[in-house]
Amino acid sequence: MLFDRPEAGRRTLLLQVELRKADNPDGDELAELARSADLIVVDTVVARREAPDSRWFVGSGKVQEIKAQLAYTDAEILLTNHDLSPGQQRNLEQELDCRLITRTELILTIFAERARSHEGQLQVELAQLKHAQTRLVRGWTHLDRQKGGIGLRGAGEKQIELDQRMLAERLKATEQKLSDVAKRREQNRRGRNRRGTPTVSLVGYTNAGKSTLFNSVTNADVLAEDKLFATLDPTMRRINVPGAGEVVLTDTVGFVSSLPHALVEAFKATLEEVVHSDLLLHVIDIADPNWQERVEQVEAVLKEIGAIEVPSIRVMNKADLLSAEERQHFEQSDRLVSAAKGQGLDELMQFIGSALGVVAPHEVLLSAGDGKTRAWLYQSGAVLDETLLTDGSVQLTVQADEQLLGQLKKKSNVQLQESVTK
Ligand code: GTP
Repeated sequence: MLFDRPEAGRRTLLLQVELRKADNPDGDELAELARSADLIVVDTVVARREAPDSRWFVGSGKVQEIKAQLAYTDAEILLTNHDLSPGQQRNLEQELDCRLITRTELILTIFAERARSHEGQLQVELAQLKHAQTRLVRGWTHLDRQKGGIGLRGAGEKQIELDQRMLAERLKATEQKLSDVAKRREQNRRGRNRRGTPTVSLVGYTNAGKSTLFNSVTNADVLAEDKLFATLDPTMRRINVPGAGEVVLTDTVGFVSSLPHALVEAFKATLEEVVHSDLLLHVIDIADPNWQERVEQVEAVLKEIGAIEVPSIRVMNKADLLSAEERQHFEQSDRLVSAAKGQGLDELMQFIGSALGVVAPHEVLLSAGDGKTRAWLYQSGAVLDETLLTDGSVQLTVQADEQLLGQLKKKSNVQLQESVTK
């Protein structure tokens, strides 16, 4: 990891700045993010301002209040909801003599830890490198600290130049690696599309239970085929969905509200799977008192990455944490499940099957001379099986979508019927 991860268990003071005409990242969420990075949140200082102060971001009176609060709560880290300029960050760190972390930096470290796929890790690395570059432009805090007297200034600057060159090289290498991975992923996706394998992606607010659902669905032996294919991302697996056949299920990185812009860019590629999915399962933690707000936040991110058009099913997870009375509130229209306890998963699978509306495999009988149709079907990637009959005709089992079936039905020399499941 490029960033120094704040050590677990560090006492952390939150600085929640509310600017009048700005989008202010939510304080409760900031506290949750800090907790999920194992930081101990000791208190929050709130500052309301018209606009950021150029030197400190907050007013000088507030700086003194923060200083006192840091001492009082014995905190070592100040976590801010807004991004600060490198100068503001440095000024505050020096004045307060503590480490300052912004929300963006915290999210970057959390993502770095959680990114499971190779591509995800590269994306995070790229975002971190870009972030580090902007920090270097006007000096680097720890270098400034070492600088001490004026005489050392030159040495510090040389170091900055060096670091910048190193950063630029590393950035280039990471971008190259990413573009290789992206190319491979694109090829995989095209392969899957050609075979007509639908893809379903799990999305949801961080901690909603996506990974738990992914695991319980892919391990449940009746429904899932635990086949991990090496060429694909390890967070993708094939499962069998009743009525729909094989489906590729993808787990994605957890969402947070107002994703920092640098991250939206960085994660667009990883989330491309989401944009190209046939169906989204939006996993919701209904035991979270703020779940409705979380739903809106996830939908806002989906909109931002251009995935709002993809059909989506809401999966109300952690139903085991509700009382019988609370459950009744949902049961009618929502998919109520407990990923951890394996409740409601069969029904969910049925529902996914019908939502995908995938056509069952069909048998196609081609006359002996019809090599053209046979070649066309192979090219479209729809052929699952082939049997050569004694009269020279060919029987193909195909998994086709409605469009392909329609084209087949129009051919007068082709016999078509739905496969009988054995
Ligand atoms: P991110 O990786 O942060 O995006 O989280 P996620 O959405 O993948 O959530 P994850 O599966 O890691 O689950 C988060 C926590 O919720 C874990 O502690 C799970 O054990 C718990 N959890 C998940 N599903 C259920 C459930 O159905 N019931 C209960 N009680 N807990 C659950």
